[in-house]
Amino acid sequence: MTSKRAQTVTASAPGKIIVSGEHFVVQGAFAVVAAICNRARVTVKKYDGRSTVIASEGQESSVNSNDRSFRGVKSVTKKIFEKCGRPQQNLRIEIESEIPSGSGLGSSAAVCVAASGALCRLLNFKTDTATIFDFAMEGEKTLHGNPSGVDVQASLCGGVSLFNRKSGAKSIPLSRAIQFIVANSGHERNTNDLIERVERRRRRFPATFDHLVQTASFLSLQAAEAISEGDLPYLGALMNAAQTSLNWLGVSTSGLNMLLEQSLIRDVFGAKITGAGGGGSIIILPKPEKYESVLTRISKDWTKSFATAIPQKGLQWEN
Ligand code: MEV
Repeated sequence: MTSKRAQTVTASAPGKIIVSGEHFVVQGAFAVVAAICNRARVTVKKYDGRSTVIASEGQESSVNSNDRSFRGVKSVTKKIFEKCGRPQQNLRIEIESEIPSGSGLGSSAAVCVAASGALCRLLNFKTDTATIFDFAMEGEKTLHGNPSGVDVQASLCGGVSLFNRKSGAKSIPLSRAIQFIVANSGHERNTNDLIERVERRRRRFPATFDHLVQTASFLSLQAAEAISEGDLPYLGALMNAAQTSLNWLGVSTSGLNMLLEQSLIRDVFGAKITGAGGGGSIIILPKPEKYESVLTRISKDWTKSFATAIPQKGLQWEN
């Protein structure tokens, strides 16, 4: 007999900020990534429909439909059904998210992780980290072509980690929580286009690019140490150095550079783009005692800004 609990499962997973190493992580560099306070929530219910349906904010699509909506979650769902050996299921998958999409904050990875967690639990499939990671990556590959996995890692495991494509993730212990400010430019963009732009840059200037991959790894390893020691002035200096390489890659914009300059005027240790760039968000590391005044100052012009403490929890089941 199926228990009432097994009829509905809700799972939630956080968005992320990349403190160091975005883009270069795709080419094998180390990155430092942290889960943030905003979460995506996915509820999966058994229901009497004719097929599995995905729904969010008034929009609905069947998992088998070829329309372009919910492409990530469709891939995740089909893969899980295939692995469970039950290709036909009548489920309703409802998505809610506090993470603005197309903003460099890992919204798609968080939705794919939460969907994988909720589906696996409802279908009594394995829910270990490696299994959920692989399912969520199916969705990310559909959306972004060649993702490094750094977004899925942060969303799934939470906390702060040093991530590398080959060696995987190592959790960074924090001596105290750290407040970051996230300033969202409100300009949505496509991660895949930016990864391709970077790939063109790599082909055009391979030697310089290789040096910058090594530099990114060095900065990430140093940032991991600065975070665990709570050395915020040094962490800020490392973020500023990382931004120089991102500028060279061509993933910053004049709007983002203006925002970075404005944020660095006072009471801030460092600031940089986070995620793919080309719009999206920047992260600002304020002096701890000044974070509220920095947030107020930045929010005057950039109304979608918010503060997040790190560390935060990763995937969680809510029922
Ligand atoms: C996107 O959040 C981070 C990128 O490095 C892409 C990836 O690592 O998959 C731009």
